[in-house]
Order: sequence, then structure tokens, then C-alpha cells
Amino acid sequence: MKLILSVFFLWTWCCTSAQTPTWSGDIAKLIYGNCTSCHRSGGIAPFALETYDEVSSMAGWVQQSIETKKMPPWTPDVNYKHFAHERVLAPSDIATFQQWVSAGMPSGNLNFAPPVPSFSSGSQLGTPDISLISPSFTISTTSDLYRNFELFPGNSTAINATAIEVIPGNNAIVHHVLVFQDSTSNPINVDGGGGTGSNASQLIYGFVPGSRPYYTPLGTGIRLAPNTRIVLQVHYAPGSNGQSDATTVNIKTDSSPLRKITINSVLNPTNMTNGPLLIPANEVKTFNAEYVTQDSLTAFCTFTHMHLLGQHVKVWANAPVTNDTTRIVWIPKWDFHWQDNYIFPNSVILPAGSSVKAEALYDNTSSNPNNPNNPPAIVAEGISTTDEMFLIFLAYAPYLQGDEFLIIDKRVFPKGATTFCEGNTVRLETLQGDGYTYQWYLNGSVLIGETSYFTDASSTGAYTVAIALGPNNVTSDPVNVWVNSAPTAQIQIPSSTIIPSGGSVLLSSIPGTGLQYQWYLNGTPMSGATSASLNASVAGTYVLEVFNGTCFALSDTLVLTGGTAGINESVLEDFFVFQDPISGMIHLKGSKLKEAEKITLHDMNGRIVCERMANHQYEYEWNTSILSEGTYLFSLWNSSGEVLARKKFLSGH
Ligand code: HEC
Repeated sequence: MKLILSVFFLWTWCCTSAQTPTWSGDIAKLIYGNCTSCHRSGGIAPFALETYDEVSSMAGWVQQSIETKKMPPWTPDVNYKHFAHERVLAPSDIATFQQWVSAGMPSGNLNFAPPVPSFSSGSQLGTPDISLISPSFTISTTSDLYRNFELFPGNSTAINATAIEVIPGNNAIVHHVLVFQDSTSNPINVDGGGGTGSNASQLIYGFVPGSRPYYTPLGTGIRLAPNTRIVLQVHYAPGSNGQSDATTVNIKTDSSPLRKITINSVLNPTNMTNGPLLIPANEVKTFNAEYVTQDSLTAFCTFTHMHLLGQHVKVWANAPVTNDTTRIVWIPKWDFHWQDNYIFPNSVILPAGSSVKAEALYDNTSSNPNNPNNPPAIVAEGISTTDEMFLIFLAYAPYLQGDEFLIIDKRVFPKGATTFCEGNTVRLETLQGDGYTYQWYLNGSVLIGETSYFTDASSTGAYTVAIALGPNNVTSDPVNVWVNSAPTAQIQIPSSTIIPSGGSVLLSSIPGTGLQYQWYLNGTPMSGATSASLNASVAGTYVLEVFNGTCFALSDTLVLTGGTAGINESVLEDFFVFQDPISGMIHLKGSKLKEAEKITLHDMNGRIVCERMANHQYEYEWNTSILSEGTYLFSLWNSSGEVLARKKFLSGH
């Protein structure tokens, strides 16, 4: 039994799904939509995932990172609570990636791959109304450093901040940034974490690498007092000694009267029910906290904060009288390096008298690999990374009737490049939440049937989406898509498609100027065949690829018969193909198979039905359950892309 298993290589994946995923067709889109915002040159991730070579060369690692849900980074449990613009892959995306890897990572025709999206290294707010940069600062310590910078927006009247972003000057050393406003003249501590040294400072935003700008819910804003100060508290990671940074904070403002939202650490060590936050060495300890709301609140966003001993944190609220539970956030595997602002897609209503509760687990044993002390030592509340912290922030406003139907967000995110060639698409996504309905528009005209939170845009123009919830509705800002036109690729039908013995058939393209050509025979580019016409002397399936300097196009296939056989008879018998009449399984057997790097199955139109990498086995088994009846051609290929052998095969299905 063991012996049989080791010689067989089962191809159950193949021919059971319509199409094997390729880089050009499926994987590039998946990576560009979910990974490249961080994994690009100049991005915050340690390596780029932009090209076929980059992704295929580390495909095993990438597969592991997405199977374990380590990547894309998103620590809240989506089964507990959904948030706006979650960074998570659908199970079907993970399956597609797995299929691609087990199929040998086929590239597909790279000329038709979607372009790499570009990300601005500047502001994502468009043109910010306030842009402040901290003075250039050089770190001169080998340990953690918290540095506070005072910046002055110079607003003589009160204004509302409606969006805030932080852009580190030096991604390699900026660990996180807290943004406070303080309109007093209290002195600010130059160094020190936690607060700013002034008890009047209010936190308005927390940034970690990968955070997107924080947009306040539509119709709300964070009030900035006249002549306020902005205090940036930058945490420089250990190992930054000698490096410099100047971090920018950008703010969008709105002077119209907006509802004011408050950001507050509603749960903290002062309202712990089993405090103080003190974790003895070699202990795992759970802490709970509770806060009862005086008035009814509408909450928009949460942010939790612990340090290196933190293992998990759950936050919820129990309603008065009924004790009904409202879920807030559950982070089952706390990661100090991935803390974010989690925005509720639907506002969370907390009636007066609700008890907001949190439970957090800390592991101060040596089995916690992040424990800063070896051997473990007692850890207490404090601002240093090696101390511990327990903070649950909520962004909220006093409840107003109808808040259940607030539309939180109307931004549209393209999940790929918005300029591409005809034939490609880009997914545009907006907020997904309970009860929302959507209608997409192109240049103001309804796109019939496009009523989901996303649309796959394929035409040039301005895309918008009308979002409705209960009695409310808004229209998103437009996203402009530009589709470059592809050339026409067409082979003129020759007067005869039968190649005369010893002769050839002249194939020519329909005329065009400034075009480049490549002829393909049986799915493979023909070397040197790069003119508008071709003397074809070999029977087989021809395709013409045309390039206009921007985009590629492929012609329909043209089949030529006669002439010299396209299939070299001398290699036909080097392996055998037979189909088990009962199971329908196809067996490939023969010594030639041991040389093969790749095996393809073409149908008689020259289209590849299946393709996969081979691993030098003597025998392969192929599940053809959905292969329709007809004639097919198996080809064995070596690593230089040459055909070693071909075999015709008549499928009985
Ligand atoms: C928000 C930014 C961000 C996004 C989005 C993101 N990554 Fe990462 N990725 C990082 C950073 C930063 C690291 C290095 C630090 C770490 O491992 O957490 C990393 C590390 C990795 C690693 C190494 C993991 C390891 O075990 O050390 C792999 C593989 C990876 N990413 C793949 C992906 C893939 C695939 C996607 C998309 C499906 C993706 N990442 C999306 C930021 C990101």
C-alpha cells in the first residue's frame, strides 16, 4: 500500500474545477487587494509582494501566513463582531491561493496581469486642511523612547476635525503615535509615555503602522478648541539609536456645526473590579473592569491597549433591566504590534445605565514568548513597554433619536490599480454593515444589478455608490477609473487552412500601425515570430498576440492542418495514457514522465484545460470527472519550456 502511494501522484485537484487559478487571472488581484498596501517598496512590511516572482518565490510562506490568519493583520475575531473595512481574506480567497500553490503557481500570460497598484507616500486625505510636522529628532538611546512634540495648528476659532492621519517620517523606528489636543498652557513633558504631562490633554487618535486615517462618522467631528495645541507622542522602538525621524500629522477640518464626539478610556485601571493591575511573576491573571453609563451613548469606534503580557481582551456591554449583551470587541490573540482603531459599521447604542465591561488576560510566565523579563518578574501598571497597561477607549456622542440609522462612512476603496487595460477589472468597496443598501453609478447612470457593497469596475469613468440605511442616504465621493484600450488582434482567415505538403500557409494580422506582434503555436510563443505575418509550416493551433505599447490583445485561435505533423511521432510512444473504465481515472505511465517538469492537457481548440508542475514521477493519476467527451492532447515539458512528448487521448466521459 505504501509503495503504491509513493509512486502515484494524485491529481484530484485538476479537471474538477473549471479553471486552475493563475497569477494573471486571480492571484495578482488577491495580493494587490489585500497585501500590497503594506508589502511594497517603501511600504511598512519588510518585503514587497508586487510581482509574480516575488510572490511565487515565497508562496509557501505566504500560504502559511494566510492559512494561520497571521496575514493580513487583523486581530479582532470577526465571528464576534464585524468592523468597518476589515482586513480579512474570504475563505474562498485562501482556497484559491492554496489551489494555485498546489498547481505549481502557474503565471498565466503575464502580459494580461493587472498592473501593480501605486500608493501615494503622501497624504491619504487628499489635501489636508492642517498639516503639522514634528521637528527632526535623532534618537540617542538603545531602549524604548516616548517623545512628546508640541505642534500649533494656529486656529483662532474652534473647528471640527473630521479625519486624522499620521505619517511617520521613518517607518523603521516609529512604533506607534498618540495624538492629543491640549488648549491649556500646561507644560508638556518632553519625554515620557502614557499621558503628556498635562492633565488637560485629550487623546484624539492612535496610530500604529498599517493604520488607515481615522474618519469621524458622517455628521460628527472632534472639536478642536481655539488656539489648541496638538501633542504628538511618538514611541520609538528599541534599536532606533542614531536614527532620525520627523513625523507628520494631517487633519481634515470642517467649520460647519457638527456633532461633537468624545474619545475616552472608559475602562482603565481606576474602574477595575479586581485591581490593581499587578501581575506576580509566573502567574496568568485575568482582570475585569466595569463602567456604568450615566446617559445614553452612541458609540462609533473602539481602541484597546495592553503591553507585552496581554493575551486576550473582550469588551461588551450589558443593558440595564434586560441585561442584553451588546458586543464591542474580542481580540482572542492580543498582538502588541497590531493595535488599531476599530470602527463599528453600525453605531452601537448604549442606553443610560448600561454596564460596559472588559476582561483581559495577562500571562507573566516564561511560556509567554513576549515576556520582557527572563526569568519573569512582578509587573505593575506603567507607561514603559515592560510595564503593563489596561485601556479601553470608546469614541462616542450623547445618543440622539435615529442614531441607529447613522451612515458611518461613505468612502470607496479600490482593491487594485484604477488604471488598467481593457479586459481587466478593479473591485471598488465601500462600508459593509447591517441593514445598508447600495446602488452603484457610473458617470451618474445607474449600474443595473450593482447593489452590493462592492462592484467590479470595468469601464472608464467616475464610479459612485448611493448608500442607504433606514431613512438616511448618502452618495460616496467618486472614484475615477481609467481603462486603456487594447489593440485589435485578428488573424486574417487564409484561403486554405490546410498546409500543402512541404509548404506553408501565410498568416497575417489585420493591419495596424505602431504595433508589436508575437505568434503562438499550441499555446507557446514561437521564437522569432514577431512580425505582422507568419509563414506557418506546422499544423497546430495559432494565436496572435498584439501589443500597442500599453495593452496586449489575443486573437481568436486558428487551426491549421496538413503539412508536417505538429506532433512529433517519434516521441508519441514514450509514455502511455489509459483510462480506468470503472473509476474514469486517467493513468499516465512511462519513463519519459520522469523527465517532465510540467504536464499540460490541451483540448482540440488548443486551449489548455489543465496544467500543472510535475515532480519526476514514473506514474501519475488524473481525476477527469468533469472532462467532457472528446479528444485531448497531453504534453510533457522540460524546464526550458520544450515539449518532450505528446500523447493524444480520447476521453470516454
Ligand atoms: C497592514 C499592513 C500589512 C498588510 C495589509 C499585510 N501585511 Fe504581511 N506583514 C506586514 C508586516 C509589518 C510584517 C512584518 C511584521 C510581522 O510579521 O508582523 C508582515 C509579515 C508578513 C509575512 C511574514 C510572516 C512571518 O511569519 O513572519 C508574510 C508571509 C506576509 N506578511 C504576507 C502577507 C500577505 C500574503 C498579505 C495579504 C494577504 C499581507 N501580508 C498583508 C504588514 C502587512
